Amino acid sequence: MNAPLPPIQKILEGLHAELMENRGGEVATYIPELGKADPEWFGVCLVTADGQVYQVGECGQQFTIQSISKPFVYGIALDDHGKDAVLEKVWMEPSGEAFNAISLRPGTGKPANPMINAGAITSNSMVAGDGVEEVVGRIKQVLGTYAGRELTIDESVYRSESETGHRNRAIGYMLRNFDILEEDPTDCLEAYFMQCAISVNCRDLGMMAATLANGGVNPCTGKRAVSRQHVENILSVMGSCGMYDAAGEWIYNVGMPAKSGVAGGILAVLPGQLGIGVFSPRLDPCGNSVRGIEVCRGISRKFGLHMFQVPQLSTSVLRRVGSLMQTRSSRLRSKAQTRKLKESAGMVRVLELQGDLNFGTAEFAMRQLTEDAAGVRELVLDFAHVTRLDSSATGVLSLAFASWLESGRRISICRCERFPSLREIIEAEASDLSDKAEFFDDMPAALEEVENRILEEAGLRRHSSERVGLECCYLLEGFTVKELEFIRGVLEPVAFPEGSSLMNVGDEPDGMYFLMRGKASAWITTEGGLQRRVATFSPGMNFGEMGLLDDSPRSAEIRADSDLETLKLTKDGLRKMGTDVLATLLANLTRILADRLREANAELSQLHS
Ligand code: DON
Repeated sequence: MNAPLPPIQKILEGLHAELMENRGGEVATYIPELGKADPEWFGVCLVTADGQVYQVGECGQQFTIQSISKPFVYGIALDDHGKDAVLEKVWMEPSGEAFNAISLRPGTGKPANPMINAGAITSNSMVAGDGVEEVVGRIKQVLGTYAGRELTIDESVYRSESETGHRNRAIGYMLRNFDILEEDPTDCLEAYFMQCAISVNCRDLGMMAATLANGGVNPCTGKRAVSRQHVENILSVMGSCGMYDAAGEWIYNVGMPAKSGVAGGILAVLPGQLGIGVFSPRLDPCGNSVRGIEVCRGISRKFGLHMFQVPQLSTSVLRRVGSLMQTRSSRLRSKAQTRKLKESAGMVRVLELQGDLNFGTAEFAMRQLTEDAAGVRELVLDFAHVTRLDSSATGVLSLAFASWLESGRRISICRCERFPSLREIIEAEASDLSDKAEFFDDMPAALEEVENRILEEAGLRRHSSERVGLECCYLLEGFTVKELEFIRGVLEPVAFPEGSSLMNVGDEPDGMYFLMRGKASAWITTEGGLQRRVATFSPGMNFGEMGLLDDSPRSAEIRADSDLETLKLTKDGLRKMGTDVLATLLANLTRILADRLREANAELSQLHS
């Protein structure tokens, strides 16, 4: 059986087949070489922002990039000189004129925008480099980074355009006359003709578009083609001026920033999501590919890709909102400690976020902070399930945190290592309050710190360096002094150095341990190979009891986080205990296991998804 066709591929193939019948428009001939194109050529390529390529038709057919080079060269000028210097020379207003209009903006004398030839020739003049060869070499190299492969110039198209480019020469001299070009325009015009003659295919256009959709980094090679901050400038001029006189209709129907070229290419970008490259040489009177426009319109309509489609506010950004009542650290606590933590549960707000955070979802999440917050002193915030944090969300979160800290409260932030700018802003903005904001590698560690603070204040914290007697062991509650003495007689003292493993997953159980001094933790390895700490133990606690109960191999590794003193109860020792002692011991064990199960259930019941 064949593998099912991916749905995107199916839609592209359907649109391609349907539009093959559309033979409207004319191949451009004003550059004689372009007239040699086969009018039937038709390729469509969609590349996702993470680099998945879907293509149909003639996606390997080479053609010249023409005006589609303009936004990319504009990006080089922005990177070389900065936005302000570029805006001094080229404005960003749609002109409503043909791409090759011989006109400048009244008053300022600047080209209206970088997508018409006057603006594009000016952008070319701003590419850093000495002489035509260096400038064009740089343009080829940067465009190649967008495409993910080395690009070359189609010499015959270049010569053809240079021989017939009188109108562009007129534009060049006009720019020189108004001092927009500061030198003789000859070299700059040759460099412009060459940039237009860079040879690409439809797949290259798709990849270049996906690179813009991905914030300027080619999703397949991981190489940066343009600085992130200039991507929005490039996409803005593509959105308002990229399709010339058809820009309004295009944005209305397709809703993506785009750029067309007279060889028949169109490149469209849906920021953060995908890029589209299309090639079909027959053009409409505005100079845009007829099938190219139709196929982009079809893709946009079929998948609902219009960038102004209003998204629903996602409330599923909250994975869990709770208190210490439902979410506790993995540290096992005594009865008295557990009671205290339950009493104080409302002092701690635990917020687990998930999914993409933008302005709307971050604002919604932060509202949960202030709601009924009078008695709340501590916030534990987990980013482990957050997939994206845009700059507006970073702003909203850091403002909310700053006012939370200013009100005298504390924040514990977990797993925000993927969002370093958030940490930087919090540390910079709340530098005088930084002792109140702490960062943790996992939520149990943060919760443990918060719990410790509460227990410390209540005088109930037990330090791991303290040595305890058997009367402090939770499993031995309810035994008389005499019984404890008897139990002590059957236990074996065993010491472990810091860093050692007391037991490993799969080991045969040979007994259980009472921890009398020191700190230990239990670890499991997830299916993805990650090590996860599932419990921490302090003096008075026991571990390894499950194996003793069901004789099954160990299910977790136990590590000594400090030098340990333990008392070991072996199977042999268990047999030596009388039935009364054994009955109380088993009753205690059942109670401890039932408590843990209840806590796990309470935690699960809080999950929003
Ligand atoms: O300036 C020119 O004439 C061309 N080399 C580029 C024009 C172009 O692609 C216009 N876009 N549709």
